[in-house]
Amino acid sequence: MSHLLGIDVSTTGVKALLIDHRGIVLGTATTNLPLSTPKPLWSEQNPEDWWNGTVHSIQRVLGETGISGAQIAAVGLTGQMHGLTLLDDAGMVLRPAILWNDQRTGAQCDEIRQRVGKDRLIERTGNDALTGFTAPKILWVREHEPEIFARARQILLPKDYIRYRLTGVYATDKAGAAGTLLFNLQNRDWSTEVLAALDIPAAWLPPTHEGSEITGSISVSVAEVTGLAAGTPVVGGGGDQAAQAVGVGAVQPGIVALTLGTSGVVFASANKPLIEPEGRLHAFCHAVPGRWHLMGVMLSAAGSLRWYSDAVAPGVDFDTLLAPAAQMPIGSEGLLFLPYLTGERTPHADPLARGAFMGLTVRHTQAHMTRAVLEGVAFGLRDSFELMRKVGFGRIRQVRVSGGGARSPLWRQILADVLDVELVMVNTTEGAAYGAALLAGVGAGLWPDVDTACQRVVAMTGVTLPQADRTTAYAQFYAVYRDLYPTVQHIAHRLSALA
Ligand code: XUL
Repeated sequence: MSHLLGIDVSTTGVKALLIDHRGIVLGTATTNLPLSTPKPLWSEQNPEDWWNGTVHSIQRVLGETGISGAQIAAVGLTGQMHGLTLLDDAGMVLRPAILWNDQRTGAQCDEIRQRVGKDRLIERTGNDALTGFTAPKILWVREHEPEIFARARQILLPKDYIRYRLTGVYATDKAGAAGTLLFNLQNRDWSTEVLAALDIPAAWLPPTHEGSEITGSISVSVAEVTGLAAGTPVVGGGGDQAAQAVGVGAVQPGIVALTLGTSGVVFASANKPLIEPEGRLHAFCHAVPGRWHLMGVMLSAAGSLRWYSDAVAPGVDFDTLLAPAAQMPIGSEGLLFLPYLTGERTPHADPLARGAFMGLTVRHTQAHMTRAVLEGVAFGLRDSFELMRKVGFGRIRQVRVSGGGARSPLWRQILADVLDVELVMVNTTEGAAYGAALLAGVGAGLWPDVDTACQRVVAMTGVTLPQADRTTAYAQFYAVYRDLYPTVQHIAHRLSALA
């Protein structure tokens, strides 16, 4: 019984990952998931699809590796954060889940700020009201679908619906719960004050657990369909970003996880709850017991490069597109790119934010534009680092970079220079599911704590160091970049209105 299963209920698919007691990946299986956008700004999924995807991925990973359920010591769960799954008193799903990237709740965010008070809300929960978070979605259902709201008795996050199906138990983890906007960050439990102000019954929320704590075990009927063994413990796990951070060993203050996927995430662990006074950084609990984290989210990071490549150089592979950009000077001869292609969260929480190239002249070639895209994303990520420094996060000793964008040596060098940090690559590249499996291992007693688990399995595979002269040159361009969006924001909003 020394194998561990991590399950990641992401927006695009359910991934099951099996590792052994040394952290070696034995196999993975992913089942893709459909996404529904029935109206502009809406983003929904059917929880039954998550469940079918979970069963299928577990069956496949067990089948393909030849590992039996009896060899698995524990299961860890992770997944997309903030989504709202509403159940009735019989545990039946009442409507499609409203996801983290759904943008329908602008009015409800205003209502929350007004009912709780913006400063009070940030002081208690660590966060301002954002359309993506769970609380405004609850208010939206109450206002727009009162007949459904009247039947609601249980609120679950996406991965916790899967926990319920696996174990029959309603429970959540503190990292995920902190992303609901209903959580007292300091006390690491639900905020009775915010719940009362929003008139949401506390009884509808599940008990909260630390990431490595056991929350229940695989039921007999689930064992029959999946091949897992009945009674296998299921640990709390964590929201995808916290589990991702565990997976790359970003669990101690001073070590930051930077994920360059479609979105770009800057994740910094802390031993106490740190809050950005205006709520521009997310402040959540870590999946590591007794720790917290700050997080900056750029919505289009590698997504900007993907867009640029599709729009400007369709059919050209990334290596070919990026090679000439390496020959361009720092700052792309005065060309800046704003990466707000799908609105933005950090530092400008603005769904109407738009992207731009600024500074074009006849001298600029495609290679300049490519470099400007890479640099613009790095400048946008630096905004999160700057906010973290301001709230007293302390010295950032190392940044552990992962995600598709991190495969480019040019982009890694630009990031190291712009951020003025040591950028490290690690051997554990399986993302959040891997972190969930490590949390399961701690819960099962394979490792005494999360720090030890990470020390045993995570190793550095490469380092990119900043170069002082480049860092100094970039600092000048970053100063201009910072002034750009505030200057053009009203233009972006007027264009949005016209479009
Ligand atoms: C985190 C966030 C995303 C989602 C989907 O705040 O919104 O990471 O969890 O992956």
